[in-house]
Amino acid sequence: MEIKSIINKAVQENELSKNEIVKLLQIEEEEILEYLYQQADKVRKKYHGDDVHLRGIIEFSSYCKRDCYYCGLRKGNNVLKRYQLKTEDIITQALEGVKLGYKTIVLQSGEDDYDAEKIAYIVKKIKAKADTAITLCVGERSFDDYRLWKEAGADRYLLKHETADKDLYQRLHPGMKYEDRIERLIFLKELGFQTGSGNIIGLPGQSQESLAEDILLFKELKMDMVGIGPFIPHQETPLKDENKGTVEMTLKVLAITRLLLPLSHLPATTALGSIDNYGRQKALQAGANVVMPNITASKYRSRYEIYPAKICIEEKAADCRQCIGGIINSLGRIVAIDRGDSLYI
Ligand code: SAM
Ligand code: SF4
Ligand code: FES
Repeated sequence: MEIKSIINKAVQENELSKNEIVKLLQIEEEEILEYLYQQADKVRKKYHGDDVHLRGIIEFSSYCKRDCYYCGLRKGNNVLKRYQLKTEDIITQALEGVKLGYKTIVLQSGEDDYDAEKIAYIVKKIKAKADTAITLCVGERSFDDYRLWKEAGADRYLLKHETADKDLYQRLHPGMKYEDRIERLIFLKELGFQTGSGNIIGLPGQSQESLAEDILLFKELKMDMVGIGPFIPHQETPLKDENKGTVEMTLKVLAITRLLLPLSHLPATTALGSIDNYGRQKALQAGANVVMPNITASKYRSRYEIYPAKICIEEKAADCRQCIGGIINSLGRIVAIDRGDSLYI
């Protein structure tokens, strides 16, 4: 029962070596897998209780100057009909989200060079009109832009490192540097942002060792939030013929991350819900304590196609709010009424 003793050690000490993490990633036996998920669920309950925090996400622009090999928004996708929301529309949609009860609004986009001052204005306006946390997720920008947005009142920033395998990172992100990403994560944290990273599970060429390194990096960087989702191949990308990431490996990485980072906020990702009808439920029972429903106006949703068969494309913001409330309650959990700030501060 060597494997169970590694799980127990992680529960008690929140520490594991890379080799030990790899051993957990190799678990195949159903009973031991269940044990891993149960222990992650217990740790989640101990530190976060039964509250599930909702973050309403507005996908405000699908333009992107980058060419990430896995993403449907990459600039090389000439088929996608792009859109960019106007500042006032973003503010209106955010305030509608607040009315639906969201205590966090996430503003996400492709890297479209949306004017930094405009983003600062949007943040200020929303903060002036509503008691909500604001998370930005707009990719790699200058340190001055990040500082401007922090001063405008933005609370959090999401920038997934995607993979800790530097060679793989370079191959999948033409013209980008792994070091730039890590440097930004450190800078964002220093600026006072509650900072989130994350990875993609099942990227072609990704090893179990590098998944273990992803988890150790989340820990080293003390990430307040960690988004862990499966790779889903998109037909208009160079990776269109590759296999998707599995539910099982995504849940393993999530559960181990929960054991090693008990305080971090871990979402049950939309990507996992898109490859398995019960993906988000499974994640919520394997360590996750956050869900990020879409609150973008319905007419734009199909045009933010990061990957195919994304859930919640036809629904309206109110539909998703009701749906997710039902899912959370069906698991014996409750929708949190507070903002769900970082537990590290
Ligand atoms: N452009 C910003 C960035 O890259 O940080 C934010 C938007 S980007 C669409 C948000 C996340 O989508 C990325 O961090 C990446 O992990 C994820 N993503 C993109 N394509 C994906 C795919 N095919 N399968 C799974 N996740 C994907
Ligand atoms: Fe652009 Fe982000 Fe997609 Fe990369 S992952 S192509 S930066 S939207
Ligand atoms: Fe969007 Fe269920 S959360 S339909």
